[in-house]
Amino acid sequence: MRLIIYTGKGGTGKTVSACSTALKLSGLKSRTLLVSADPAHTLGDALIKDRIVGTPTKISADLDAAQVDPIAEMDTNFKTIFSYFASYFQAKGVDDTISYELAMLPGMTQLLCLLKIEEAARSGVYDAIILDMPASGEALRFLYFPKLVGSLSMRLSGLAGLVSGFGRLFQPYFSSPAHSSDLMKIEADLLHKLEELSKLIFDQKVTSLRLVANADSFSMENAKRTLMSANLYGINVDMIIINKIMPITRSENSFLANWTHLQQTKVIEARSNFYPLPVKEVPLYNEELKGIEMLKQNAEILFGDEDPGQILYHEKVFEFKSDNSGLTLKLKVPFTKNVDFLVERASDRITIKVATDIGHIVNVIPLPAITLGMKLKAAQLSDKNLVISFEY
Ligand SMILES: Nc1ncnc2c1ncn2[C@@H]1O[C@H](COP(=O)(O)OP(=O)(O)OP(=O)(O)O)[C@@H](O)[C@H]1O
Ligand SMILES: [Mg+2]
Repeated sequence: MRLIIYTGKGGTGKTVSACSTALKLSGLKSRTLLVSADPAHTLGDALIKDRIVGTPTKISADLDAAQVDPIAEMDTNFKTIFSYFASYFQAKGVDDTISYELAMLPGMTQLLCLLKIEEAARSGVYDAIILDMPASGEALRFLYFPKLVGSLSMRLSGLAGLVSGFGRLFQPYFSSPAHSSDLMKIEADLLHKLEELSKLIFDQKVTSLRLVANADSFSMENAKRTLMSANLYGINVDMIIINKIMPITRSENSFLANWTHLQQTKVIEARSNFYPLPVKEVPLYNEELKGIEMLKQNAEILFGDEDPGQILYHEKVFEFKSDNSGLTLKLKVPFTKNVDFLVERASDRITIKVATDIGHIVNVIPLPAITLGMKLKAAQLSDKNLVISFEY
């Protein structure tokens, strides 16, 4: 079973990329489930289908889609837990719309969505699950959540402390935290599910994270930071998509000419900055990308003859090693010994400026927080690996 997760900055094209992947995979006879953690009904909008709900809805022979609705999910699958919470609130005179309020807490949709994925993976019904995650930073935190809970679970007691920390939020209401055996069973079950999920997410043969950006510096920086964090966490990133690239025009119009020039510069930068990850370039179409036919055509541009279910890359682009004296960052770079390059440090990032035959290419590399108290010591290039060391 494969779990393929799309994330990236807002509006870059995560949902359409996830849909295209799912459509192509199901066309190759892989039994595929497409899941969205977006509370807005975007899967329905992209596929032009009404009523995609929490329970997998059939889209075609080998494709199901599910859109996690936190409120419905709470009501159907987590009733026991929430009636437990509700009883405290009612005792304090809070009305019974509590499950609605809880469903609206930040992160709840993502958490419920992850649980849905665990359920789908366990069912054995699918060969591939494609997950459309929210914007990058958030997404990684949620992917890491099951592991965090797994490692802390032994030291924590009570479900309240586990889920998004909202137990602490409601502490004033819990005059006597009663633990019925029922609730303990649910808690153990939830922990077990999160543990299973964590095994899936960190298994590089199962899970691939794919990052979607546009040809602009904001979304590309965002993707780079996510790549760095994912490499730190140990989640495999196997592909970058640069979406909505404007076609090169010979227009006299300086507005268009400026934009195409800027975007082309960014595309060239992306090829070098994300090296050696496969970078897929997708044009901006002359209309909004939606509907099954158009999304299938988009899948051909993205994957051509490739199977989207493959693991497209499986090494770390960033490797960190720390010891007593500091930290070493090993980075794969697309240039060899003879090229002039310059490494500079600016607080939480380093820039690498490389002279190439198409002019200078600048690669800005986000650094993990731990390097903030360290000095840049040396940068050495050996066989397409740039080794940068930091010391305390
Ligand atoms: N290559 C493209 N050409 C034309 N339109 C596109 C292209 N890619 C995406 N779009 C359109 O851009 C909009 C945003 O795409 P999409 O919803 O997939 O982005 P997203 O990253 O999922 O957004 P959000 O962060 O809101 O979830 C949609 O209207 C979609 O049809
Ligand atoms: Mg979306």
